[in-house]
Amino acid sequence: MKYLIINGPNLNLLGQREPGIYGSESMESVVEQLRQHFSPSGVDIAYFQSNHEGDLIDRLHQAWREGFDGVVLNAGAYTHTSIALHDAIRAVASMPVVEVHISNVHRREPFRHVSFISAACMGVICGFGTYSYRLALEALVNTK
Ligand code: DQA
Repeated sequence: MKYLIINGPNLNLLGQREPGIYGSESMESVVEQLRQHFSPSGVDIAYFQSNHEGDLIDRLHQAWREGFDGVVLNAGAYTHTSIALHDAIRAVASMPVVEVHISNVHRREPFRHVSFISAACMGVICGFGTYSYRLALEALVNTK
């Protein structure tokens, strides 16, 4: 089984960016630990990050064509703005997508309470720090 983690804008700065909210661990370290955890179960994990909306959409389409078993998507601020991402997730509906947030967006500013992508996703996990990625992967693997 192969799964793809897609991170959106500003998540390349994870570990340095607002550590009080997002923690001090880099995404490289998070992905490395996820690979160590999941590889004994035969799960391969690929990772992609972009600050550009269209690149996120292109990668979703490509993942679907490549036959990924699912995607963990942290769309960052595009979560709260992007109808195009909503449509992209729906366009590849045979490939489950789990929406993830490191922070609990519902405890933050009101503009973060709205997600344009939740309705297109299989499920949503938020608020568990970088452990949210692991929970999302567990959900994808165990509902396969
Ligand atoms: C985030 C929450 C978003 O509101 C924010 O724009 C991000 C990160 C999170 O992981 O908590 O960039 O998706």
